[in-house]
Amino acid sequence: MTASASGLHYAPRDDAWVFHGGSFVRAGDAGFNLHERGVTFGDGVYEVVRYDAGRAFAVDRHVARMRRSLAAVALEGIDPAELERHSDELMRRNGWRDAKAYWQVTRGPQPRDFVIDARTRPTVTLWLSPREPVVPGTPVAEGAAVLAEDVRWLRCDVKSLLLMPASLARTRASRAGAVEAILVRDKADGSSHVTEGTSTNVIAVIRGRLVTHPADRYVLAGVTRSMLLDHARAVGWGVDERPMTAQELCAADEVLVCSTTQVTAITSVGSEPIGPGAAGPVTRALHAAYLKMVVGGRG
Ligand code: PDD
Repeated sequence: MTASASGLHYAPRDDAWVFHGGSFVRAGDAGFNLHERGVTFGDGVYEVVRYDAGRAFAVDRHVARMRRSLAAVALEGIDPAELERHSDELMRRNGWRDAKAYWQVTRGPQPRDFVIDARTRPTVTLWLSPREPVVPGTPVAEGAAVLAEDVRWLRCDVKSLLLMPASLARTRASRAGAVEAILVRDKADGSSHVTEGTSTNVIAVIRGRLVTHPADRYVLAGVTRSMLLDHARAVGWGVDERPMTAQELCAADEVLVCSTTQVTAITSVGSEPIGPGAAGPVTRALHAAYLKMVVGGRG
């Protein structure tokens, strides 16, 4: 389900065009500044955008979310609409039609100090990973998930570079043969809820209704999540944006995880099979609808 599982990594080839530090350069010539706060403090935000048949999918939603992320961490002086233009230009220069675009804005280089220097200027880096075109009718991917404690910060609505907790949880999941770790947060009020996956939103089907955590500070407001929920409402399915417990998740009829790069049916959570242990009808329908949307350029 992941980029690496399909053999496509985020790292661009050395001869690929990338955008870094104000200009279009070959990836091999980009170079990196050791004092970049994106490296020393994970001080930055990012977006992952998909291109299908040359078109960026739901790009307005990505641009809007990038704007919110930048504002939330007071990263100033960047117009996200410009990232979209640079990204389109990279598609043109590389001559690709189907790709995943990575947009990153970091605080910029300065001598290492916990205090951000007001003079530090952001570094913008964009690159693409080409992939095969989507074929409508492709069956939904399936995989196992594990549960993991959600130990991330409390601004998960910001698409920030602080990815170590997610990466460690996902690595443990992968070593256990699972495709995703579904995170469970012990909240300050004593409740405990499923939030999202390490790089996905989680949607369960419970008694015929779609259930997913509200888009608050505990989860990223995923673009795919919003497209799927919009579709579900449009076709008359019930949607409950409410927290659910791990027990509810494990007893759900269907569970899926979704992100810009995938809709994946979760067939078991830990040792609990989900439904009959194979992709259910709602998941299959949502996946098919998503493929139609990306191919049709809707959003
Ligand atoms: N991840 N939740 C988290 C924590 C994510 O990192 C992502 C996306 C999502 C899904 O959001 P969207 O549907 O907008 O892609 C939810 C990207 C793909 C990544 O980090 O590679």
